[in-house]
Amino acid sequence: MKVLNFGSLNIDYVYSVDHILREGETILSSKLEEFPGGKGLNQSIALARAGVPVYHAGAVGQDGGKLLELCAANGVNTDFIARVDGKNGHTMIQVDKNGQNSILLFGGSNQAQTEEHISQVLEHFGEGDMIVLQNEVNLLDLIIEKAYERGMTIVLNPSPYDEKLKACDMSKVSWFLLNEVEAEQMTGEKDIARMPDALLAQYPGARFVLTLGSRGSVYKDAQAEYHQDIFPVKAVDTTAAGDTFTGYFLASVIEGRSIPEALRTAALASSIAVSRPGASSSIPRREEIPV
Ligand code: RIB
Repeated sequence: MKVLNFGSLNIDYVYSVDHILREGETILSSKLEEFPGGKGLNQSIALARAGVPVYHAGAVGQDGGKLLELCAANGVNTDFIARVDGKNGHTMIQVDKNGQNSILLFGGSNQAQTEEHISQVLEHFGEGDMIVLQNEVNLLDLIIEKAYERGMTIVLNPSPYDEKLKACDMSKVSWFLLNEVEAEQMTGEKDIARMPDALLAQYPGARFVLTLGSRGSVYKDAQAEYHQDIFPVKAVDTTAAGDTFTGYFLASVIEGRSIPEALRTAALASSIAVSRPGASSSIPRREEIPV
């Protein structure tokens, strides 16, 4: 089985602040750092560091060369990443003194996917291969259609959750990995305890992994439900905690481990990621995860 991640690659500009900016407020940040990021790239790096060979597809801009180098250095295949004119996708991230963040996203190269490029990439994949998606690239609806036609198993992290997702046929998705904010946006259910059932009612054939911040995570499908607590650490920067969870959870499933084991490994990996600064740079290697 081959694993393709069709997703964003960003440059994250991370500002350390006392608190997240309020409307109309101006504050001085104490530090500015630049990190590789993007939900797509972070998830590919997490899969690769967890030991899964992964192909990444997407597009980088003229300033995105270092993102390709990072992929290569981590063993992520870059054959399907296009080089396009104009700026790479980037973010401005505020991280406060408690490690909590707020992210402003500029699409740039991530919004430059074309139908031709998508078709060319997907020609290399077929029945039984897995495609991992998030919502930071354009033409996501088309990617889902074409991947489904080719018999691929579709994994979706519906993040950020916005209007574009309404154009996607989510009944074609086999696995959803999402947090409580996205689950509420998807189902309208505000009560966290009821979210797993609300998700399953919407897509009864799918499998759901719901991350709940400090409340841990829940797996739900038509037959089973499991819960996993977090491994508490001092949070330095929560950016990419969810992406790390996604990569390590999928890697465990691909290896054939049980769902409770996959949840535990993913929770351990993301606890390490939140104790370090940055997005892709904070993702642990397999040997750092205690067994
Ligand atoms: O999930 C974290 C990521 O979201 C950051 O790396 C940032 O680039 C945004 O895409």
